[in-house]
Amino acid sequence: MVICLMASLLLVGSVSAKDSEIEKDTFSVIHSRKSVKSFTGASVSIENLDKIIRAGMAAPTAVNKQPWSFVVVTERKQLDALAAGLSNARGINKAGAVIIVCAEPEKANLHSKDFAIIDASLASENILLATEAMGLGGHWIASYPYEDKMKHVRTVLGIPTDVIPLNVILVGVPTGEDKPKDKYQKDKIHWGKW
Ligand SMILES: Cc1cc2nc3c(=O)[nH]c(=O)nc-3n(C[C@H](O)[C@H](O)[C@H](O)COP(=O)(O)O)c2cc1C
Repeated sequence: MVICLMASLLLVGSVSAKDSEIEKDTFSVIHSRKSVKSFTGASVSIENLDKIIRAGMAAPTAVNKQPWSFVVVTERKQLDALAAGLSNARGINKAGAVIIVCAEPEKANLHSKDFAIIDASLASENILLATEAMGLGGHWIASYPYEDKMKHVRTVLGIPTDVIPLNVILVGVPTGEDKPKDKYQKDKIHWGKW
């Protein structure tokens, strides 16, 4: 009986210790994520890219519609072609890959463009966090809502016109130059009422 009780206490202890380790790790990933502009130029493996996108697909979506697709580009020639129409994509020349998160309004709840963009944005944040967790660097480069940039991305990658290329997420090995910003502002929080 005593042995039984001790065993269950040990079990409870080990479960909560494990949980707190997971929590600490999650928070350290969230707070160390940053937009990486400086990459070494090293490639990123297909296995790692698949793992990152798997994390993207774990994001919540309205009515679980998952109205998205992901285009992965690793070929330097294609990366250069993308860069030619994206003046805002600093760092792409040394990124190992890019992931274009595409929002598909036709597949979204209520066929809503807003829901599709929100859902694809959540997948994008998961992708950025997974990238950080794996010791890689990520950076959201805007395509949407710029008509010219979306047109360029669609043309280079053959994306249909009813699909929205939300962003071009740079993924690569970071040089370590980029640092996270502390954005906590106490006065942005309204407790109870505005
Ligand atoms: C919707 C959105 C659009 C962005 N577009 C660009 C962009 O076009 N070019 C760029 O260099 N960074 C872009 N960023 C990255 C932001 O500049 C960056 O997240 C912000 O400066 C905060 O820095 P941090 O990500 O290191 O915390 C974008 C981020 C978001 C969420």
